[in-house]
Amino acid sequence: MNNYFEIKLKSVSENEKFARNIVAAFSVSLKPTIDEITDIKTAVSEAVTNCIVHAYDNDPSREILIRCELDENTITTIISDDGVGIPDIELALTAFYTTKEEDERSGMGFTLMQSFCDDLQVSINENGGTTVTMIKKILRDEVISA
Ligand SMILES: Nc1ncnc2c1ncn2[C@@H]1O[C@H](COP(=O)(O)OP(=O)(O)OP(=O)(O)O)[C@@H](O)[C@H]1O
Ligand SMILES: [Mg+2]
Repeated sequence: MNNYFEIKLKSVSENEKFARNIVAAFSVSLKPTIDEITDIKTAVSEAVTNCIVHAYDNDPSREILIRCELDENTITTIISDDGVGIPDIELALTAFYTTKEEDERSGMGFTLMQSFCDDLQVSINENGGTTVTMIKKILRDEVISA
């Protein structure tokens, strides 16, 4: 691995912007395009929002852990919580599935994360919380020699 960072964030919505910006800033060394940066930011926002609203039900005393790893042309972002957990991951990943319809959530967060990343893994932690791992490959233009 070329580089990594890890941070622990208070579970408040103000930190969603900070989280997406810090991952984007850290990824800059891989020379992503603006579109790739936007993809990363969107995916991080969705995952952090899920921790705040679902895992912790807006309890600001809880914490979100973010680890970001850079390796060659790959950015791996791991976002974990020790909240309520997801009883059925396959169902949670289904487009339009939400357990918070009353909050006008659309159930599209995981679908967005999947479409903006090359790979998305969701797993249950030992403590019952959730870990979301998002892998994004940065495509570089190959230099074609004449
Ligand atoms: N970190 C988490 N902890 C517990 N449950 C989660 C977590 N992340 C997602 N979920 C569950 O998975 C469901 C689907 O998540 P998803 O992000 O796709 O949709 P949503 O958050 O409900 O709506 P939207 O993201 O469109 O606002 C959630 O409704 C929730 O039940
Ligand atoms: Mg969501």
